[in-house]
Amino acid sequence: MSQITQLMTNKVDTQFLNDVIAGLSQRQKNLPCKYFYDDVGAALFEQITELDEYYVTRTELSILSQYSQAIAQLLPDNLSIIEPGCGSGKKIAYLLAHLVNVKSFVPFEISSEMLNYSLAHLSPLFPELAIAPLLGDFTHSQMVKQLSREAQLETQTNLVYFPGSTLGNFSPVKAIEIMKNFHRLCGINGYVLIGIDLVKDRQVLLDAYDDKKKVTAAFNKNLLLRINNELGADFNPEQFTHQSRFNEKLSRIEMHLSSDCEQTVRLNGQLFHFAEGESIHTENSHKYTLAAFSQLSAQANLRLEHTWQDQRGYFALCLLRPL
Ligand SMILES: C[S@@+](CC[C@H](N)C(=O)[O-])C[C@H]1O[C@@H](n2cnc3c(N)ncnc32)[C@H](O)[C@@H]1O
Repeated sequence: MSQITQLMTNKVDTQFLNDVIAGLSQRQKNLPCKYFYDDVGAALFEQITELDEYYVTRTELSILSQYSQAIAQLLPDNLSIIEPGCGSGKKIAYLLAHLVNVKSFVPFEISSEMLNYSLAHLSPLFPELAIAPLLGDFTHSQMVKQLSREAQLETQTNLVYFPGSTLGNFSPVKAIEIMKNFHRLCGINGYVLIGIDLVKDRQVLLDAYDDKKKVTAAFNKNLLLRINNELGADFNPEQFTHQSRFNEKLSRIEMHLSSDCEQTVRLNGQLFHFAEGESIHTENSHKYTLAAFSQLSAQANLRLEHTWQDQRGYFALCLLRPL
C-alpha cells in the first residue's frame, strides 16, 4: 500500500473546532462542507452517488465513458496527475485507462477514509502506477504552495483533475482562488480538467439534494454527529430537518439543517441558541452556464479550451490551460 503523506500535520482538530465555532457564531449559522466526510459521511456519500435522483455522478461517468479516449488524446505522455478531493478514485480510472506512461498520480484528500477508498480501488487496477497519496486541504493556499514547491510541480507538465462538481461547493471568489491554486499545481504548460454541474430545471436540482430514501438527509445530519463525536457537542440531530433550497440569485442549491424547535446546543463551554425554524447552512452547490464558468476561469488565468457534455446538457467536463 502507498505511504500517505500528511501536509501540515498539526492543529487539525483545533482547526475543526475553530471552524465550527466561527460558523455557529454567524448570524446565518453555517458549517464548512469539507467536514462532511468522516467514515460514516464517506460511506453515505457513496450511497448518494447511486441514488435515482442524484444524476450528477451517473452523468459525469457517462461523459467519461464516452469521451475519455478523446480527452486522453489531447494530453501528453508522461503526465503527473493531481486529483484534489479525489473521493473514491473511480473517475480517474477512466482516464488512466487511456493515458500513456503516467509518471505519478497524487490523490489529494482531506478525508483519510476517502483517500483509503481511492487507494483500495486504484492500486489493484493499476499495479504499475506510482501513487503518492496526500492528506491535506486544497482550499489552503499555503498548503498548495508547499506541495508545489516540494514536488517542484511548477516546472513540470501536470494535469490537475477536479471532477464531481466539487468546485460548485465554493463561492465565486473562493472558486477563483482554488483555480489559481490549480494553475500553480499544473505548471506553466499544464492542464486542468474540471467537472461542473450546469444550470437546469429547478425541481431536478431540488430532488437531487433531497432524495426520497433520505440518504442526503442522513449525510447532512451526520455532520452534527461528527461534531458531537469529535468535538464533544450535544446536538440532537433528531431535532433538525434537512432542507434543499434553490437560491435563484446566486444560481446554487443550498443544503440547510433547520431547527424543529427552540433549543440550545453546548460546544466547548459555549452555548449556541436556535430559534424554531432557524437553520444551519451546510453546503452550497453552484450551477454554472458555460459562459459563466469561462469567465470565472479567466479570472484565475485559465482559458477554457474544450468541453464535453452529456446529451441532456446536465453536466460538463471542461479542459483548461494556463493563459
Ligand atoms: C463531492 S465529493 C467528490 C468526490 C470525487 N471527486 C467525485 O467526483 O466523485 C468531494 C470530495 O472532496 C473532498 N474534499 C472536500 N473539501 C476538501 C478540501 N478542502 N481539501 C481536500 N479534499 C476535500 C471530500 O472529502 C470528498 O471526498
